[in-house]
Amino acid sequence: MKKKDIFYYTKRKIIAISVSIVFVCLLIFAVITQILYQSKVFNDIDKQLIRQEHIILTMPPVVFNGNMPRFADELFFRNPMPIVQEFIVVVYGEETVQFISPNPYFNGENFPYILNASEGEIQKIRYKDHDFRGIRFKLNGYDIEIFKNVDSELQSINQLRNSITIGLISLIVIAVLLSAILASRILKPVRENYDKQVFFVQDASHEMRTPLAVIKGKLEILANSWDVNIDSNFEHISKIMSEVVGLEKLNNNLLLLTKENIDLNISVTKVSLSTFIEGIGDFYCDLAELQNKEFQVIKPEEEIILQWDYDKVKQIMVILLENAFKYTRDDGKIFVSFKDEGKYIRIIVKDNGIGIKEEEQERIFDRFFRSSDVRAKNISGSGIGLSLLKSISKSLKITVKFTSKYGEGTEFKLLVPKVMK
Ligand SMILES: Nc1ncnc2c1ncn2[C@@H]1O[C@H](COP(=O)(O)OP(=O)(O)O)[C@@H](O)[C@H]1O
Ligand SMILES: [Mg+2]
Repeated sequence: MKKKDIFYYTKRKIIAISVSIVFVCLLIFAVITQILYQSKVFNDIDKQLIRQEHIILTMPPVVFNGNMPRFADELFFRNPMPIVQEFIVVVYGEETVQFISPNPYFNGENFPYILNASEGEIQKIRYKDHDFRGIRFKLNGYDIEIFKNVDSELQSINQLRNSITIGLISLIVIAVLLSAILASRILKPVRENYDKQVFFVQDASHEMRTPLAVIKGKLEILANSWDVNIDSNFEHISKIMSEVVGLEKLNNNLLLLTKENIDLNISVTKVSLSTFIEGIGDFYCDLAELQNKEFQVIKPEEEIILQWDYDKVKQIMVILLENAFKYTRDDGKIFVSFKDEGKYIRIIVKDNGIGIKEEEQERIFDRFFRSSDVRAKNISGSGIGLSLLKSISKSLKITVKFTSKYGEGTEFKLLVPKVMK
């Protein structure tokens, strides 16, 4: 449960970060769209107001019945009227309203008063729940105001804002869902690796428990028999020694195993097959003599030059040969052959040892797996060799197959590329 929590918070963090990024981007987009639209709409209206101002200012004088009419009346007499209908014109002079163009919003007694505003400047006016933009200027001693109602424009701006808000909310919901899916995907391999590490540490500590318990027990016996001759305790001491050697080996293999998982770099060198075989063969010939076992190596007669990661292929051979020697009885026969197969070298390591029960065969490459027989017989080992072999051969593209018959023997077949990349 605890480890799930770690990922729960990480997942939440990933979601929060990605959604915030999306949110900020969308918000900036929304604000810019809104501002651009709004200023476009009002700019157009303001331009029209200024054009109307210009038209009035540049009207040629009209002579009516030989007289110059009052300026305010002039607007009536002109045909067509110079003012577009959607604009409202108020003419103010001699302290009274002289003229106000017909409109549904206000009359001579009730109209927005912008006489205090500076000349030629666009004003925003709210009057009895209606919104206007207006401009004021002077002509022939009159104050003239032109208004335009902007209710419908404001309504469409509001509509746009609402649509953007709804869009923003839906996109954020989608972003949350997508980032949740994304976070689970990203975390999947991390979680798997984490689980593997946990199992690895659990298995490793489990493997160490037995030898440590044995060592502790033996040491306790020794501690309680300090006055006894060391010879009579030889058995305990040698048991301790062998357990310590086992632990040491386990420790080395654990290091190799973790290294193998992290560092899969291969270093390729040119090497001849016979040099390679000599490098491993000699040691096992001696061992075979020592253990009274038969050890036979067959190799091609012609010289074959290989581009191999020497150390890693050797490590594989050592793992297989060590097992072959360990899991054969005194009359053991171990047979190794190297065969040229075009792009590959086929290597066979065969023994007539204890074999592996069929039901256990699929597990022999698992980390720390050791057959029940081997454990029962107390044959030393840590169950790491073949899992190490598996990860090395995967990185070197070596195919590994094996057959085994319980009580009769085991045969490993490797197909090793001559040129490694
Ligand atoms: N040549 C073999 N003959 C019989 N059993 C084998 C052989 N090679 C491997 N095994 C089985 O596979 C298990 C795993 O081998 P390995 O990973 O090398 O671990 P270890 O040798 O330390 O037990 C061994 O414990 C043994 O049960
Ligand atoms: Mg082994």
